[in-house]
Amino acid sequence: MIKVITILPGLDKGGNREQFDQLNLYPGETVSIVGPTGSGKTALISDIELLAQGDTSTKRRVLINGTLPGDEIRYNPASKPISMITQNTKCFTDLSTEEFLQIHARSRKIEDRRIIMETIDLANKFTGEKINKDTKVTVLSGGQTRSLLIADAILIGAAPVILLDEIENAGIFKQEVIEIIKNTSKIIIFVTHDPVIALLTKKRIIMENGAVIRVLNQNEFETRTAENLLELDKRVGLIREKLRAGHEITSELLHVSFA
Ligand SMILES: Nc1ncnc2c1ncn2[C@@H]1O[C@H](COP(=O)(O)OP(=O)(O)O)[C@@H](O)[C@H]1O
Ligand SMILES: [Mg+2]
Repeated sequence: MIKVITILPGLDKGGNREQFDQLNLYPGETVSIVGPTGSGKTALISDIELLAQGDTSTKRRVLINGTLPGDEIRYNPASKPISMITQNTKCFTDLSTEEFLQIHARSRKIEDRRIIMETIDLANKFTGEKINKDTKVTVLSGGQTRSLLIADAILIGAAPVILLDEIENAGIFKQEVIEIIKNTSKIIIFVTHDPVIALLTKKRIIMENGAVIRVLNQNEFETRTAENLLELDKRVGLIREKLRAGHEITSELLHVSFA
């Protein structure tokens, strides 16, 4: 059971100590990491994924429930509580989607075979291009692959910590992902340039020059702004899907209510 993940400060790119005492992340929390390209966002979530112990370029250390994670947790993929999905994540195996999930479910000792279709159904909530159980995982599009892996991380991997590195413009419905994950008691961390994701998450970590320079909690004005932005984003999403499906855009479509 993860009650808290603690990040202890490391060094910025110039070798100066980061200016925070410790950064705690709790189950049920949605977190975004923002900052310019090269500011160390991927390095920070990699530290979490590796459960760094001063042995990465940042020299950070990461604790689980206040203590040092043992080697079993750090190095055994079956006990690893963390799933990381990036834009480059691909499945390299000559299996169908169904077989791929079956093997993972078996390795996690899940007997109930319904989990396979549940995972595919969940993945299909995250993508407009429907995934079929017989499709080989190697021919899934980028958006389908990420949707499948997120659904797999939620249901089969049951990972309590999910790290997503700049997946926004990658053919997935991020609002659905946030909505579903919010209702599980997971820690989800988005590295993002997307204003909707940044404003939907409750905590925002700001990076500069390889260091965490601020941690902000969503304020009330941002919560309201997020709602407006969300509606706009849904509208854009709907138009995108209609255009993709070869439809014409009509005035009714522009006035669909998302409230
Ligand atoms: N604190 C740090 N100390 C030393 N090198 C760092 C630090 N943070 C990031 N880097 C290095 O800087 C480069 C850019 O960082 P990266 O995490 O990829 O940035 P971003 O994901 O924000 O674009 C990488 O090579 C990374 O290893
Ligand atoms: Mg990056």
